[in-house]
Amino acid sequence: MTITQAGWTDILTVLRQTHAIWSAGLSKSDYHEYIWRQLNHPWGLRNHKIFVMKVNGQVVSSCKLYTVELTSRGRQFKLAGLGAIYTFAAHRHRGHACKMIEAMIEQCENNQYDGMILYSDIDPLFYENLGFIPFGAADFTFHLPWHLAAEIEEEPVNYFERHDIAAMAAIYGKWQRRQPFAFARGEDYFDYKFFKERFLADHSFLAWPKLQIRFAYENATPSAYALTETGGSVLRILEVVGSDSGRQQLWSAIFEEAYNRQIQKVRGWESVAQDMSPGYKLSNVLPPEGKFQPPLPVVHYYQRDWGRPMILPFDTALESWHNFFPCPILELDHL
Ligand SMILES: CC(C)(COP(=O)(O)OP(=O)(O)OC[C@H]1O[C@@H](n2cnc3c(N)ncnc32)[C@H](O)[C@@H]1OP(=O)(O)O)[C@@H](O)C(=O)NCCC(=O)NCCS
Repeated sequence: MTITQAGWTDILTVLRQTHAIWSAGLSKSDYHEYIWRQLNHPWGLRNHKIFVMKVNGQVVSSCKLYTVELTSRGRQFKLAGLGAIYTFAAHRHRGHACKMIEAMIEQCENNQYDGMILYSDIDPLFYENLGFIPFGAADFTFHLPWHLAAEIEEEPVNYFERHDIAAMAAIYGKWQRRQPFAFARGEDYFDYKFFKERFLADHSFLAWPKLQIRFAYENATPSAYALTETGGSVLRILEVVGSDSGRQQLWSAIFEEAYNRQIQKVRGWESVAQDMSPGYKLSNVLPPEGKFQPPLPVVHYYQRDWGRPMILPFDTALESWHNFFPCPILELDHL
């Protein structure tokens, strides 16, 4: 049994199998190009690797490993992200995935990583048995009584473009320092994310919506931004980042846009719901003096059983992170 960083030939062997489950509506050739371009993106070249495990020279399992930096209380931590864990169907239930993950853990521990992170789409018990600890993960949703809207207005849509990245990175950098812990994001990291989202929006057979961006300004300077996407009558909020008053402006703007566009349902993940605490109610983001008066829609929360963040701390400073609820890791950081 060997575990090595995969060359393109081995990666293609894996992609032929994983296309059925992870191609997000891409054709085979687009899926290959999507992965190839991630690995060859400037951020990917430095941080993103694919490993394969071989038995008798044959690939049986694979995974990706990427390096990310997180900050907490002024300290920087280097974490290894584990993802795309896969065992070829004919080789399952023989302990291959567990062996490969154990080897990756040992390798990361020996290479001065402070911990590891992953997002589980399967029963987290599989990863708990290997030492990972789950964060709380919740989907929030609320329904809008849009039939109460006075009139329907056509709103211009602002899509997230490369030229937005510098302002986003500046806003994010300030916001990040106030979080219990958060990913450090340089402009190349934003660009990597932008590439991934836009490639899917441009090439997927599925209705993969483009990300929309909205900025709030204070003293003519952008102080907060919101990333959202709209699919049919559902609006998804991916991030609301920036100063307190900037974020408040954005929540009102998102709400207004949802009304104007007859959105029926708004949803998002736990990290976005932070702004609604205490009580996780809309009244905390839509103040009573604003345009939207009570009764505001009730926000419902459901435990999410996919994309569940989990952490394996090596450094003791990371041991308490799973206690932070809601987990502040944003949706864009799910690689
Ligand atoms: C999950 C996966 C990687 C496991 O590979 P494997 O080499 O068979 O794993 P191992 O032999 O080391 O461990 C098997 C154990 O994993 C657990 N397991 C396997 N699939 C699981 C799933 N979908 N949910 C929860 N636990 C699972 C079971 O406890 C299983 O025990 P069993 O063999 O007694 O049934 C493999 O099933 C796979 O490639 N699935 C499709 C891709 C995927 O879902 N990857 C995980 C993304 S988070």
